[in-house]
Amino acid sequence: MSARWTIQERTTPNPTKLAEDVRQGLSQSPVSIPPKWFYDEKGSQLFDEITELAEYYPTRTEQAILEQHADELPAVDTLVELGAGYSRKTRLLLESLTRGGRALHFVPLDVSAEPLLDAALRITADFPTVTVTGVVADFDDELAPLPGTPGTRMVAFLGSTIGNLTPAPRRAFLQRLHRATDPGDWFLLGADLVKDPERLVRAYDDARGVTAAFNKNVIEVLARELDANLTADDFDHVARYDTELERIEMRLRARRAMTVNLKGLDLAWHLAEGEEILTETSAKFRVEGLRSELGDAGFEVVTTWTDPAGDFSLTLSKRL
Ligand code: AVJ
Repeated sequence: MSARWTIQERTTPNPTKLAEDVRQGLSQSPVSIPPKWFYDEKGSQLFDEITELAEYYPTRTEQAILEQHADELPAVDTLVELGAGYSRKTRLLLESLTRGGRALHFVPLDVSAEPLLDAALRITADFPTVTVTGVVADFDDELAPLPGTPGTRMVAFLGSTIGNLTPAPRRAFLQRLHRATDPGDWFLLGADLVKDPERLVRAYDDARGVTAAFNKNVIEVLARELDANLTADDFDHVARYDTELERIEMRLRARRAMTVNLKGLDLAWHLAEGEEILTETSAKFRVEGLRSELGDAGFEVVTTWTDPAGDFSLTLSKRL
């Protein structure tokens, strides 16, 4: 019997790409580092811990919505999951899509290979009718070609990962997704909704400091990958909600002035005391806004499900 899983590497996150992102980020104000660099092995584990925190409602709320509505999803031959991570929530989708012994091709796509391998092994063991093609790729890059027969796929992008994109990159992403899919394919999007700013800030600044550790881990990634004299302890975790832009911002604030030698970049970087590095923006959405952004990109919304409190949304749309 042949193995029911394979892993394709399109791109791997590598120090050269990180160096390019940091070089670019240093020229911005505030200095910015794209959030994808959080997710080395330690960062992926810390994110997993975040999803279990009392304050961090998105994961369990999305899970509850999926539990309620998984059986209303269209039967498809291929499920592509963008930013799949360990694919925990996906199990609900897989259960529903394989009901009655249906065959399913599952295509998790992630920047990090380790969770994909882990998911491939567990899912093939637990779901006898599923074959897995893990794809190591960055959704900043072109998504095409996607495996599967045109018109029989569903692309899932869960967890409000889309919130990491600001409006212009979000539009570009939806356009790339449109190019990579075909008429009749489905798109299932999980998106966190606008709500009380105090609850939002607590979700990104938890009492146990797990999110702070997750944020500061990017400093360790920089130190290691770019051979830089940076220490996580020299930074404070900051989480704020911007009510105009309707987004959470996570920053790292320098506790003292420092001159950082980025040997990997052959560059010295001066940070003033109190200076902040923007490490993540996490947009919060409104159902109507999602509908219009999806519509602009050629996806017709069929249904939006939310939890009773209206904290989180799952939107099913059809690629026109
Ligand atoms: C994975 C981007 C959806 O924005 O809520 C969680 C990442 N950062 N806590 C989010 C995150 C801090 C998360 N996303």
